[in-house]
Amino acid sequence: MTSEEYYELIVPYQDAMNLLLTRLDVLNHSIYKDAAYKPVHTVYSRIKKHKSLDGKLTRLKLANTPANAREHLQDIAGVRVICYFEQDVYQMIEAMKRQNDLIVVVEKDYILHPKPNGYRSYHIILGIPVRYMDITEYYPVEIQVRTLSMDFWASMEHRINYKQNRPDKEQIQEELLKYADILQDMEQNFETYNDNRPPE
Ligand code: GTP
Ligand code: MG
Repeated sequence: MTSEEYYELIVPYQDAMNLLLTRLDVLNHSIYKDAAYKPVHTVYSRIKKHKSLDGKLTRLKLANTPANAREHLQDIAGVRVICYFEQDVYQMIEAMKRQNDLIVVVEKDYILHPKPNGYRSYHIILGIPVRYMDITEYYPVEIQVRTLSMDFWASMEHRINYKQNRPDKEQIQEELLKYADILQDMEQNFETYNDNRPPE
């Protein structure tokens, strides 16, 4: 697609993402009674770049058109929510799902069911209503919610391993699995000192 088509395509996704970011911000300072226990450490967001959007359509063997992008890509807008503890991840997910004007498109709990390589994270794609002058349209935003330790692991794994071929791949994979365990242990130990309890 042309640059013009790309920039026109992403406008409503940017709108949807901004609306979601504001809701996440509100939840972060209201989910627990005590403001000292905010669940979220950092939020990252991005709109898929023109090049990677074209690349993904090509990988999917689809023509490079805005219509195909709208129909087949659900990660044009992406948000990563980094929490302190697992408990915070689930509180944030539950709170988002309780907002009944949002549509849950798909969710994958890679915390309860980690990927074989050790990857852990909660993935949810939400349909966000964007109200324009006369119409309301839903746009998908892909949200990855994870803890600091899960993010540390995923960032390192992505850096050294993800979608990359190298001769020492097997050894690295073994180590990555071991580190995933160690990090989970460490986080759970920290959590025993977390005297914040979720509502109810
Ligand atoms: P994609 O085609 O990559 O979007 O995968 P998918 O549609 O099967 O979705 P999935 O929910 O499995 O993964 C989506 C995103 O999660 C990826 O783009 C990464 O950002 C992240 N992710 C998934 N698996 C891994 C992993 O093993 N390592 C790392 N570092 N990130 C991962
Ligand atoms: Mg994806």
